[in-house]
Amino acid sequence: MILRYLVIEGIAISSVLGSLAPGSAISSGLADDVLKIQGGKILSGQVTISGAKNSALALMAGTLLCSETCQLQNVPSLVDIRLMTKILTALGVRVTTNGDVVQFDPSHLTSTEAPYELVSKMRGSFFILGPLLARMGEARVPMPGGCSIGSRPVDLHVRGLQSLGADVTIEHGVVHARAKNGKRLVGASVYLDSPSVGATENIMMAATLADGETIIENAAQEPEIVDLAGFCNAMGAKIQGAGTHRIVIQGVEKLHATDYRVIPDRVEAATFILAGAITRSTILVNQINLSHIAPILAKLKEIGIGYEIESPTSLRVMRSASYRGTDIETLPHPGFPTDVQSPFMSLLALADGNSVVTETLFENRFMHVAELTRMGADIKVKGNVAMIRGVASLSGAPVIATDLRASAALVIAGLAADGETIVSGLHHMDRGYDRLEAKMQGLGANLIRTTIAQSNA
Ligand code: EPZ
Repeated sequence: MILRYLVIEGIAISSVLGSLAPGSAISSGLADDVLKIQGGKILSGQVTISGAKNSALALMAGTLLCSETCQLQNVPSLVDIRLMTKILTALGVRVTTNGDVVQFDPSHLTSTEAPYELVSKMRGSFFILGPLLARMGEARVPMPGGCSIGSRPVDLHVRGLQSLGADVTIEHGVVHARAKNGKRLVGASVYLDSPSVGATENIMMAATLADGETIIENAAQEPEIVDLAGFCNAMGAKIQGAGTHRIVIQGVEKLHATDYRVIPDRVEAATFILAGAITRSTILVNQINLSHIAPILAKLKEIGIGYEIESPTSLRVMRSASYRGTDIETLPHPGFPTDVQSPFMSLLALADGNSVVTETLFENRFMHVAELTRMGADIKVKGNVAMIRGVASLSGAPVIATDLRASAALVIAGLAADGETIVSGLHHMDRGYDRLEAKMQGLGANLIRTTIAQSNA
């Protein structure tokens, strides 16, 4: 049952509606954070984007490949980053965090088995399989399991590692991978049925220490893949072609220390650009990589949202009185990113005209639609297609975030809605957004994060 919280003068009254959202915790009488947003405020000023969650997690996994201490800069402060830190520590990596600079000493790994209670909480932790196997000759990593947006299998990861000469079995929900001769993996040609980001990362990392050449065909081309290859090459790996559909890796004996800066988070950048657009504001978004958000900028131009490139790393969203609808189909990079689909839908809900959004990457990534509809959006879903009729306004309401990017969509909608929106389920938001509420407040948003005791009816 999905619990809805009706906040009357700070007293939470909950009633039970619907079916239990995956991963939602029902706790009686315990405090639960919510965001209370008064919509309609025009934003101003500037915001600085943090390092990319989906790159930092892969790079952290990549430190397992290294035999010496290495350092990452611009690491975002997120729940998922702290979880990955715990996982690496459990394997024997000594991790020292100092703000957004994190040092990793993986010179003495003490285990080849990742703890279930940690890995099961986060899909990204499955990226340790390839590097741990390559470095130690063996790895045991629990299956990451599905999450609210889809089943998220790992067959492409497993088959790719098997191509590199690993024996891989799955017993009791744990993936057990061993290098056949007990020592090194052997380079091979790997064809990915679909350009999976995680599978490309796992296989690319495993291949850096394999014996000989590995070619990954139909590889994912996301900026995070390029960043990971850059980090591995800075440690002495020999990777070419990252960012294209064909990546070639020459295996080396070992990797050495390096100091590397994580790329900016393109999804967070898009989130703030959309916040400026939906509130008809002019805001400056700093520390971004413009080429990484090209699909977003193309769509903004299409619907009539103005922006100016202020510098190679900053963009000013220009106040636009109105904007049109458009059609979006999520695709692997360089197509429109699936992680921006839900926040962009909030913007389209208030467009002049109709839009069609097609989600091709994940089978269940429209859970934010029900919540947007409760705020007055006119959206109909048929399979993996959402048909949106722009409405003149949204009205604030208590809404529940069901996954990480849905939380961003609801915050953005709340910024533009009439009245008060209360967003709960913030544990999703905290996984992938570094101090979102403080950054929004810095732009003048009328938004507070408050703890509210909850009680079951
Ligand atoms: C990464 O997930 C990101 N997560 C996701 O971001 C992102 O949405 C996704 O890439 C697509 O860009 C991290 O980097 C930690 P995939 P990943 O493997 O690697 C199917 C966020 O909100 N597939 O490219 O899991 C899979 O089911 C998160 O930050 C297989 O069938 O994505 C999905 O339908 C959400 N078999 C599609 O491929 C496999 O072995 C894309 O998955 C692997 C994947």
